[in-house]
Amino acid sequence: MCGIVAYTGSREAYPILINGLKRLEYRGYDSAGVALMQNNNISLYKCRGKVADLEAFCEDKNVESHCGIAHTRWATHGEPNDQNAHPHLSIDGKLALIHNGIIENYLSLKKELMNKGYEFLSNTDTEVLVHLVQDIQKTENVDLIEAVQLAMSVVIGTYAVVILSSDHPQQLIVAKKGSPLLIGIGKNEFFIGSDGAPMVEFTNKVVYLEDEEVAVVHPDKKLEITNIKNERKKPFVERLELQLEQIEKGGFEHFMLKEIFEQPKAISDSMRGRINTKKDVVALGGIMEYENKMLKAGRYIIAACGTSWHAGLVGEHLFESLVRVPVEVEYASEFRYRNPIIKEDDVLIVISQSGETADTLAAIELAKSKGATVIGICNVVGSSIARNTHAGSYTHAGPEIGVASTKAFTAQVTVLFLMALSLARKKGEVSLSMYHHYISELEAIPAKIETILAKNDYIKQIAQEFINCQNAIYMGRGVNFPVALEGALKLKEISYIHAEGYPAAEMKHGPIALIDKEMPVVVIATEQETYDKVVSNVQEVKTRSGKIISIVSEGDEIVKSMSDFCIEIPKTDELLSPLVASVPLQLLAYYIAVARGCDVDKPRNLAKSVSVE
Ligand code: M6R
Repeated sequence: MCGIVAYTGSREAYPILINGLKRLEYRGYDSAGVALMQNNNISLYKCRGKVADLEAFCEDKNVESHCGIAHTRWATHGEPNDQNAHPHLSIDGKLALIHNGIIENYLSLKKELMNKGYEFLSNTDTEVLVHLVQDIQKTENVDLIEAVQLAMSVVIGTYAVVILSSDHPQQLIVAKKGSPLLIGIGKNEFFIGSDGAPMVEFTNKVVYLEDEEVAVVHPDKKLEITNIKNERKKPFVERLELQLEQIEKGGFEHFMLKEIFEQPKAISDSMRGRINTKKDVVALGGIMEYENKMLKAGRYIIAACGTSWHAGLVGEHLFESLVRVPVEVEYASEFRYRNPIIKEDDVLIVISQSGETADTLAAIELAKSKGATVIGICNVVGSSIARNTHAGSYTHAGPEIGVASTKAFTAQVTVLFLMALSLARKKGEVSLSMYHHYISELEAIPAKIETILAKNDYIKQIAQEFINCQNAIYMGRGVNFPVALEGALKLKEISYIHAEGYPAAEMKHGPIALIDKEMPVVVIATEQETYDKVVSNVQEVKTRSGKIISIVSEGDEIVKSMSDFCIEIPKTDELLSPLVASVPLQLLAYYIAVARGCDVDKPRNLAKSVSVE
């Protein structure tokens, strides 16, 4: 959600800014803008639409500059239009500001500023910030840095901001709370980004700004960081763990397809170094220190959103089956507001691809305030969730650019499985032979997914049959019920077809009324304890003329004979079946969406990193 790029140094800033914005497109946005320092004056270009529209708009403009800020906006306050796009200027045009986050007290601040005569050109919460900074500068007679520190002390909410000032033409002021921001350090140049993608080819030395820190960035000076109380902070320089090829399409038509195909590697990377060669120890280094607390937990609460919540539902099965400790799975957005009962021996496990989801971050704070231990499962190294949890395990799936989560989901399930198995073994809930069985089954998953990916063309053919459908139902049972939910979510978000997932046995309690010959029903009917029951559920749909697309284990004859289309997938242990069963559903959604002409990597209204409530 919202992307920030900024540069100061001796290179041409505009190509770096535009290219950086393109790399952040995956976050989701509806307008874009850039402010450039030119002869000690700020030039501002912004418009509704894509970064390509901004580029076209700037085509005949002079964009020569060595210092500038750029932004992609995902509308929260005020519709997506030219005025509401960032950057926003101060009244005298001397300051330009970009912002990611939400200023919750913007209305009261706006009222005060309007009473003082400030005129607002947009409906955004952000515009308040630029006027507030300038107002403090004037009324308190302080320099820009102090004005930013004071302004950030009065705002309530979240922010990552970059400010350009024509009084300091080469300098950028950066501040952050609750929204990610990192500063890339080059030789006499600095890069700023919401993540590392805009700067990856220029530097691998980065500083992740901490909450309530303010940085002064100038090409001829060392990076200076203070907090909003003006206390000096030592910049902690880290290595940026990102390669350029990871954020390029590598010959695939879309990032989503590339990421679906990356799953064998992503799952292997999630396991790498965590299973010893004798296969008798699963060790998740990141949670070692808190393992005792996890072993003694009276209950696990899993909180997440969207696809990560679906991984959490799979995790519930894994933990309850293997560790034999009760698990509750919560939407982070609901959990944070319903005054839940949290005890000190509870362990909250939060799952997030981006590591920036605002609701999940709030769930963490709530659980911590009640004394519970909080464990994170995150994909993005150094993300806010990774930093705010007591301990955690990275999924190591590599950057996920497509808004629809695919490889992150299967990597999350892999880490949940490793976590549950390791705890179960230590608790004595799983025998050594079963433990070996699970490890071998898990290690075989990447190769099994390769065989499903090899059926790509067949799945593409099936997809052509459903491009005009209005609705779809996904059914699954047990550990594959969350896979049905996830399959339906994939279809909804990228093809805009209405789809719902149900536990197969629930159909007769209502949803079966929807079945007619127009209704595609995708059923996960792999080899599992409830297979016979699923057969009956499929029969009930078939009797009512529903079109059956089934995902079955290789060699299945019964469900296959009842299906209009059938995708066979390799057999595996039931607990691991979500890892294989989800892959054909991702491909099905992908090809339906492509055939419908949808923008699969950047679906309408969606953002990759949902950093606002
Ligand atoms: O980054 P997170 O995993 O915390 O994000 C949670 C959801 O916003 C995310 O999974 C969303 O549902 C995706 N678009 C799913 O494809």
